[in-house]
Amino acid sequence: MASQQSGLRHRTQQEQDQSTLDSSVQQAVRKNGGFISNPFWLLVIGALAAYAFHHFLLGPVPGIPGQVVLTPEQLKQYGAKSGSATLYLAVLGQVFDVSRAQRIYGVDGSYSFFTGIDGSRAFISGIFNETGLTDDVTGLSVEDYNGLVEWRDFYHKDYTYVGRVVGRFYDQRGNPTQAVEAVEEGARQAVLDRKALKEEEKKIPTCNSKWSQKDGGMIWCKVGYPRKTFVKQRGSESQFRCACHQDVEHNDKKQLYKDCEASATSCITSPPAK
Ligand code: HEM
Ligand SMILES: *[C@@H]1O[C@H](CO)[C@@H](O)[C@H](O)[C@H]1NC(C)=O
Repeated sequence: MASQQSGLRHRTQQEQDQSTLDSSVQQAVRKNGGFISNPFWLLVIGALAAYAFHHFLLGPVPGIPGQVVLTPEQLKQYGAKSGSATLYLAVLGQVFDVSRAQRIYGVDGSYSFFTGIDGSRAFISGIFNETGLTDDVTGLSVEDYNGLVEWRDFYHKDYTYVGRVVGRFYDQRGNPTQAVEAVEEGARQAVLDRKALKEEEKKIPTCNSKWSQKDGGMIWCKVGYPRKTFVKQRGSESQFRCACHQDVEHNDKKQLYKDCEASATSCITSPPAK
């Protein structure tokens, strides 16, 4: 109700502006006469101005009809805080209309802070304050990059895609930047890594393990010998898992656990609480 009233006030102000504008145009027309008094030319100029506005400020994405490129300032106007009924948010520079979920993204919604901005990093970090809500995703892991792409997929599926926001991930013309390409490349790598690990696990099974505060940690193999097993993965170089190897052999790719013999089938990984 309050917003409706202020909306009405706003309109009245606009109308006043409009009428002063109209009279100044009329004065100009009276002074100059000429082509500007011809309504046809006024229409042409109006159409050109509208086209220029649409083309240069809300430009179409090249090769993708019906989508727009927004500046961060334009995106901000679709934030819950600005009082807009239309709510946009951006993930990895792609803009989505989330208006249909006012309960979640509206002013009083639990995720309203995501609207009007690209807060990509917070989709991973869960830090929802000013520092956390940033589009700077540098230094995240390839798994995180995959997580971001999954969030983007989620919004494509559940909401309406609007276009792109100019900045880190898309340039002025809406073309992808190196930053978004790096994220997508990382995400593909994470999927490959996961597949490779699954294949590895078929060949060399992962150890059984248990841990509790009281008893400490233990790993063991029903068949084979537990080894710290390093898989060369581009995204996560120093990652290892415990795997059960068929022979007692060990090397820098399949290392012994500390204080655990080569022929042991179980190892203590952390001591029980005293
Ligand atoms: C990294 C941490 C988290 C992120 C980035 C995150 C993000 C989100 C987002 C974007 C939505 C809206 C999805 C939609 O449009 O439908 C959502 C919904 C929701 N999240 Fe989270 N979330 C996080 C952690 C949590 C945690 C820890 C809880 C529970 C304690 C939680 C509970 C919920 C619930 C209940 C909804 C549904 C909201 C509703 O329907 O009103 N989230 N989350
Ligand atoms: C945001 O939250 C993080 C983690 O909770 C905290 O370290 C940081 O100081 C906070 N920043 C601001 C501006 O509140």
